[in-house]
Amino acid sequence: MGGYYWLVALVGVASLLSSGQCSESCRGTDGHAGEAGGPGRDGWPGQKGEKGEPAVMPGGLMDAAVLMRLKGEAGNRGLQGIMGLKGYRGDVGPAGLPGRPGPPGPDDRGFSQHAESSRQARSAFSVVRNVSTYPAYNKKVTFQRTIINKPFEDLNLNTGIFTCRVPGSYYFVFHSMSKVSMCLYLMSDALVRDLGFCDYHTRKRDQVLSGGVVLQLTAGQKVWLQSFKDQQPDSVVSDRQDKQIIFNGFLLF
Ligand SMILES: *[C@@H]1O[C@H](CO)[C@@H](O)[C@H](O)[C@H]1NC(C)=O
Repeated sequence: MGGYYWLVALVGVASLLSSGQCSESCRGTDGHAGEAGGPGRDGWPGQKGEKGEPAVMPGGLMDAAVLMRLKGEAGNRGLQGIMGLKGYRGDVGPAGLPGRPGPPGPDDRGFSQHAESSRQARSAFSVVRNVSTYPAYNKKVTFQRTIINKPFEDLNLNTGIFTCRVPGSYYFVFHSMSKVSMCLYLMSDALVRDLGFCDYHTRKRDQVLSGGVVLQLTAGQKVWLQSFKDQQPDSVVSDRQDKQIIFNGFLLF
């Protein structure tokens, strides 16, 4: 387009020159050269270049010593940070192995003493002299048959002696049955005076003699029956008819 304007201008100049009345002799002076134009505008920015290749060391890979030398000095230790929040509670672990068996417990002394005391709190006997001979004077009456003698046979059949094991109040009572007169003491070292019981009769029939007492005994004190001579005829000692003496005793409290 610019070329078209230039062409129109040249045609105009040529027509002016051709229509002038001037010969080759009428020549004008040359004009001055025009002023230099201003600098043109900047061009468009170029395209972004390709990324470069990494550098290759002549000896291949760098060794650690070189890297250490390149590494900078360690900085000062920083301040301790704030303590973190408490963590969540962990799961319950598996059950442990069973422990060793414990030492034996204390013996049941209290219970035993209680049991012992309740056992000791009992004492009872009922024994029988069943031989037909007359009980010898001034001798302890002995026995052959036991009805009860518990729990520890406090009455000795062979000696005829009851020995107190559990202190307390006891009731003693005896009954004799014979066809001849008989006298018996109920004796004890707990008694100040012996207790004598007699029964006299002339009938040839059985007669019962009884006697009894309550005694306060301490451990070791003794109680027994003993035959004695009082008003019986001398013939009784040779009597061989059936006789029976039962001796009973028991702890009241
Ligand atoms: C007396 O009792 C004992 C024991 O029970 C018995 O062995 C004996 O035969 C009895 N004696 C008489 C004479 O009954």
